[in-house]
Amino acid sequence: MKKDKYFPDFVGQQSVKSQLGFYIDCYQDSDYLPHLLFAGEKGSGKTEFAKQTARNLKKRQVLVNCTTLRTIPDLLGEVLDPYQSLPTTIIFDECHGLGRDVQKALLTIIGGDGEKYTSYAFSNRNNDWQINIDFTKLSFIFATTDKQKVNTALCSRLEHIAMEPYGMPDIKRIIGRRCYDIDFDKSDKVLDAIASLSRGNARDASIKLAANKIIPYCRQKSIKKFNLSDYHEIKSIFGIYELGLNSLEFTILNYLYESKEGCSLTALQSKTGLDRAAQQDAEKYLLKLNLLDIFSGKRYLTKDGRKYIINNR
Ligand SMILES: Nc1ncnc2c1ncn2[C@@H]1O[C@H](COP(=O)(O)OP(=O)(O)OP(=O)(O)O)[C@@H](O)[C@H]1O
Ligand SMILES: [Mg+2]
Repeated sequence: MKKDKYFPDFVGQQSVKSQLGFYIDCYQDSDYLPHLLFAGEKGSGKTEFAKQTARNLKKRQVLVNCTTLRTIPDLLGEVLDPYQSLPTTIIFDECHGLGRDVQKALLTIIGGDGEKYTSYAFSNRNNDWQINIDFTKLSFIFATTDKQKVNTALCSRLEHIAMEPYGMPDIKRIIGRRCYDIDFDKSDKVLDAIASLSRGNARDASIKLAANKIIPYCRQKSIKKFNLSDYHEIKSIFGIYELGLNSLEFTILNYLYESKEGCSLTALQSKTGLDRAAQQDAEKYLLKLNLLDIFSGKRYLTKDGRKYIINNR
């Protein structure tokens, strides 16, 4: 399939693949790639798609950990000065971590009108820099989980590539591909069950579940055909509940089940000992699964939440 020409090892993300395929095709003619910004949830594939895009351009690839680029001299000295005249794709990963001044400098360097050639001068006590950039040699790719923290003007000059949420069929394919020599018993829908433990997250499916749990479990027990009892054993070894709930989320549901009347945020926090961030993460996932409802500040179990607790206590 044409859409998978450049990304054969990646599951799903058809719209991402088709946009990137278009830009890579155009690059073959013009040597120019618009400055891209991959945005999406943690573990959705931003870094891997950025790296594969760079591989398809067939030039040197440099992956920059942006938290180390706090100042303009960091950007110039570590990245732009060394690579300015070499055909290179620079991936600014987790670009919300770039220093504020660095983001402003990149804004100036990128320009506002899709310029192919720009220059940038900067001096401090130790150094004078004169950087000349030819964007037919140098390509910029950015990636972030947090677009809000990227300079608004810089953000608006980049071509946004929004990662799509993964549906269950994609997650099942990710696990199936990674565990290619394991047979998942089709009669008991074991792949559906185990895939639901990944919470719709591609990294959790591929690494945390398939590579770190299912494959070593099968190897250790010489299992070729993975069935429902293996699924239950994995849940029990790692303390994972149905649908991938962790013990905190399970405790919240259990408490709400017992409290019947619903519960205020403060009461729930004091009962579970959760801090605000952990509480928000837990609630986000329980809301997504429609197990929890929030109404006038109070937390309630939904019908599905009640059913879940009755079936899993
Ligand atoms: N479309 C996909 N097909 C197959 N595997 C995928 C896909 N997307 C992600 N993965 C798997 O998930 C892992 C994590 O992907 P990646 O590191 O690119 O995510 P990320 O969005 O950059 O996450 P973070 O925000 O935490 O940096 C990859 O190493 C790969 O195993
Ligand atoms: Mg990443």
